[in-house]
Amino acid sequence: MEKEQFTSRFGVIMATAAGAVGLGNIWKFPYMLGQNGGAAFLVVYIACVLLFGLPLMITEIVIGKRSGQSVRGAYQVLIGNRRWNGIPILTCLTVTLIIGVYLVITGWCVKYLLMSIVGPLPTLNGWTDVLCNAFAVLCSVAVVWLGVTKGIERLSKIFMPILLLIIVILLVRVMLLPGAKEGLSFLFSFDADKISFDVILSALGQCFYSLSIGMGALITYGSYIPKKQNVVTTACGIVAVDTLVAVMSACVIMPAVFVYGFSPEQGPKLVFSVLPVVFEQMPGGHVMVLLFFALLCIAAITSIVSLFEVLTASLVDVTAHRERRPLTRHQALVYVAVVCLAISGFCTFSMTGESDWLVWRGKTLFDGLDVLTSSFMLPMVALSTVIFFGWFVDKQVMIEEMKPHYGTKPWAIQGYYFLIRWCFPILILLIGLNSIGII
Ligand code: PFF
Repeated sequence: MEKEQFTSRFGVIMATAAGAVGLGNIWKFPYMLGQNGGAAFLVVYIACVLLFGLPLMITEIVIGKRSGQSVRGAYQVLIGNRRWNGIPILTCLTVTLIIGVYLVITGWCVKYLLMSIVGPLPTLNGWTDVLCNAFAVLCSVAVVWLGVTKGIERLSKIFMPILLLIIVILLVRVMLLPGAKEGLSFLFSFDADKISFDVILSALGQCFYSLSIGMGALITYGSYIPKKQNVVTTACGIVAVDTLVAVMSACVIMPAVFVYGFSPEQGPKLVFSVLPVVFEQMPGGHVMVLLFFALLCIAAITSIVSLFEVLTASLVDVTAHRERRPLTRHQALVYVAVVCLAISGFCTFSMTGESDWLVWRGKTLFDGLDVLTSSFMLPMVALSTVIFFGWFVDKQVMIEEMKPHYGTKPWAIQGYYFLIRWCFPILILLIGLNSIGII
């Protein structure tokens, strides 16, 4: 069967940006900014995105585009042997666990959205939350079910503009509040003393997370990009949308938090416990709450879609060569969805206090999986991918990809390989060590 492809450059950018723009931008970025000194973090973050995020994104997209394969087949096809097949296995495992954790927070977004529409929900202990997780899974399954062009591309082209429109509406409303300037000056008054090693490493980690680096999504979506398309301009488009959404979310959240006298350093609970209170206090606040949680739900679900696609495409490929019943795309998708929902269910129950066996030394399964994936597994995938591409894949692959658009500029190629062979492995190692508290 002919592999489906995205149909236009706009479609590629919207679909991939929809995957990249997620809770990382709207929920995590603003609170990290609040905790790490505002403008200082912002400047370091943007530098990280341009210096490291963009080249890594280009690398992953090229791996997908040149191989034309899912994560499962991409590494093997590029070097012609199966020695690196550990990376696809680790990627799929990591992605499965990441979705499990992410679904919990997506479930909260769905819950808050429903509450802003119908009022308080019946409490069925953890089951209310699990039902909300299931709702997010169903929406994501529906998109992937329709396929790459009719589902992912078409719906991204509709929902990304809606998402941008919602942010602009929220931004305008917040800017009209008396006192919004103080919040903005926290965001934009730069104090170089606040830049520390810790801030740099947190910004780097956040940059990788926000751009979905190491999650296989860029490889998978890369394999659907038409052969003639320029990877560099595509990646620039995705990075621009992703960063813009993160900065705009911070510009919505911080001033609102300042105007109503809350501290910007609330951490993960900022958007759930502070924002509804903050928004409800302003005129027209109820609509703001509704729009804000709709925004979070759209962003989260389109991101889950991208990772469901990673797992579904890989599972189909794994079973494609079996003699006994290869899985169809739809069957694979159902398996993926059920497993991820089950993991998210366990994570949810680990936090509701009813299931002691899911809590170990005061740490819930949710916390454990979160740390395991973001501090160990994701850096491992990213590290092995850069080593693979920098040291083992023929340089010709990158050169051929760039040639039709930029010719063969030796300094650019050498600069790129210097980054990918030396700088990135060291940096990724540093991020990993920092996030487990060793440095
Ligand atoms: N780039 C995504 C984000 O910022 O939210 C990362 C992501 C994490 C996507 C988990 C999907 C997901 F399930």
